[in-house]
Amino acid sequence: MQEPHSQPQFNGNELQLLRSIRSLIAAIALLALGLLAVSLLYIGERTGFISRHSDSTAADSAIAPSAFWMAPDPETIGDPVLREQILYGKELIRHTSRYLGPKGSVAQISNGLNCQNCHLDAGTRVFGNNYGSVASTYPKFRARSGGMENIYKRVNDCFERSLNGQALDTNGREMQAIYAYIKFLGTDVKPGEKAKGSGLKELAWLDRAADPTKGKAVYATKCQSCHQADGGGTLNPDGNEYTYPPLWGKNSYNDAAGLYRLSNFARYVHANMPLGATHENTLLSAEEAWDLAAYVNSQARPHKNTPNDWPDIAKKPVDHPFGPYADAFTETQHKFGPFKPILAAARKP
Ligand code: HEC
Ligand code: HEC
Repeated sequence: MQEPHSQPQFNGNELQLLRSIRSLIAAIALLALGLLAVSLLYIGERTGFISRHSDSTAADSAIAPSAFWMAPDPETIGDPVLREQILYGKELIRHTSRYLGPKGSVAQISNGLNCQNCHLDAGTRVFGNNYGSVASTYPKFRARSGGMENIYKRVNDCFERSLNGQALDTNGREMQAIYAYIKFLGTDVKPGEKAKGSGLKELAWLDRAADPTKGKAVYATKCQSCHQADGGGTLNPDGNEYTYPPLWGKNSYNDAAGLYRLSNFARYVHANMPLGATHENTLLSAEEAWDLAAYVNSQARPHKNTPNDWPDIAKKPVDHPFGPYADAFTETQHKFGPFKPILAAARKP
């Protein structure tokens, strides 16, 4: 008897064969799909549509890290006397306060900051205000003093301003060691050339004036936990060095120091603060960096008389906060900006 909708009838062996053929076809189809997927991925990657490297955006937007200057290692110096001297220089940069701070073991001539607080990793970090270009570019003319400055003079500038202290004797053991270390760092940089990534990284000017009130709010959330609400930082348990250095107050840099200019402060913190930030992985927007600079540099700090600075007032940087000026802009605008109009006016003949 035939059923109304009959299926073709197979015996046991035929059914077995049919199942095998089906699984074979399924397997071939899966394989083909797999191959297709792999080749699409391959093509995608080659053409740039697909990327498996999570860091590719960083790599695309910045120069390859290997292009930046890298400091030589003093431990590799063969001559033991020279090696000792240069390692002592490095130690003085890292732990200036232990030797030359208020409780210094050699002399008490500075405020407790370490050079390394502002020249990170003993002056070797890319865009951490490093010393990569010092040996190759000094002696040089500097408009601030209106004369030629050698490395000794430049180091003592930071002792007298950033460390609000006294100059070191040029012939003394400490200055000679710092000098030897800075010279050594520039070993591979040709005379007259700048090491890539040395000093501070440029930061775009704002269209508005930097705002201390906005800066205060950013400070509370991103800086205060280490540098403290009163800006005074915290000392280590021995009291001979800061764990978190002061940003204002009597133990901070004075108003003749480089960081007192808003552009220097903003550039330094944008690429390096809060602790853990790098120039490739910044943790502040440009606006936050400028507003922080405005806030911190509005707080009280030591004053230094500098009657001989900027003998040619036309050479003052736009953000030098003390008159007289060669233009008609106020001291307030020269301190907080907006700086673009000042720059534009200076470019006019
Ligand atoms: C509070 C921050 C701060 C501290 C601490 C500090 N410096 Fe500086 N230093 C700066 C800034 C900012 C500049 C760049 C200033 C500029 O370009 O106007 C600078 C520039 C220099 C330069 C010139 C770099 C160049 O490429 O031209 C040398 C050398 C230097 N400092 C040495 C030292 C030494 C040595 C110490 C310790 C005794 C020290 N600094 C401590 C902030 C600091
Ligand atoms: C997690 C702790 C921490 C935080 C948060 C932090 N800093 Fe720092 N800061 C440091 C340390 C530590 C140093 C010294 C680095 C060194 O010596 O290697 C430093 C150095 C500095 C310096 C140069 C030295 C000085 O005393 O003038 C400035 C300026 C600075 N920080 C500003 C800031 C600002 C602005 C913020 C907020 C955006 C910030 N920091 C957030 C730990 C911190």
